[in-house]
Amino acid sequence: MSCSCSNTEINVLPPEIVAFIEECNAKEHSESYLIPVLQMVQETMGFLSTESMDEVSWRMKVPSAKVTGVATFYHFFTFKPRGEFRVTVCMGTACFVRGADKVLDRLKILLDIDEGDTTEDGKFSIDCARCIGACALAPVVLVNERVYGNVKLAEVEKILTDHGFDKAKGAKA
Ligand code: FES
Repeated sequence: MSCSCSNTEINVLPPEIVAFIEECNAKEHSESYLIPVLQMVQETMGFLSTESMDEVSWRMKVPSAKVTGVATFYHFFTFKPRGEFRVTVCMGTACFVRGADKVLDRLKILLDIDEGDTTEDGKFSIDCARCIGACALAPVVLVNERVYGNVKLAEVEKILTDHGFDKAKGAKA
């Protein structure tokens, strides 16, 4: 059967991911491990580059269209390098009605970037998420894995300064 997997040898993935893929390939229905493999690539490399997805396609013998399809379907995958501090604003209903959109606007102004972008110095990026399951704390902001609940507009800057943001120097601090 012909396969539209990437057939060019690519070597951008670190050895631990290659080893994990080999483990998955040895299992039954190895294709079903595509999402865990892509998650590992993102966790390790920060985002999914075209080259890394091509290498996954080649090593797992999964058509590249399927790899791209899966990666674009799930909102937690990202195709651009993210900041050292990934600031995620929950835009689920509970957070939205409690002002998450205003929190998002304040973050965009302070960092001078849009949602989905990263500051020039690579320090901060802004993303939005659907409900993260902490509605009682709405509105919720995450900085990497750290959860900030009941976020008030006046506290947004402090969340950033806790992570090295210096308003006087802008996001390049
Ligand atoms: S809506 Fe934001 S945590 Fe549920």
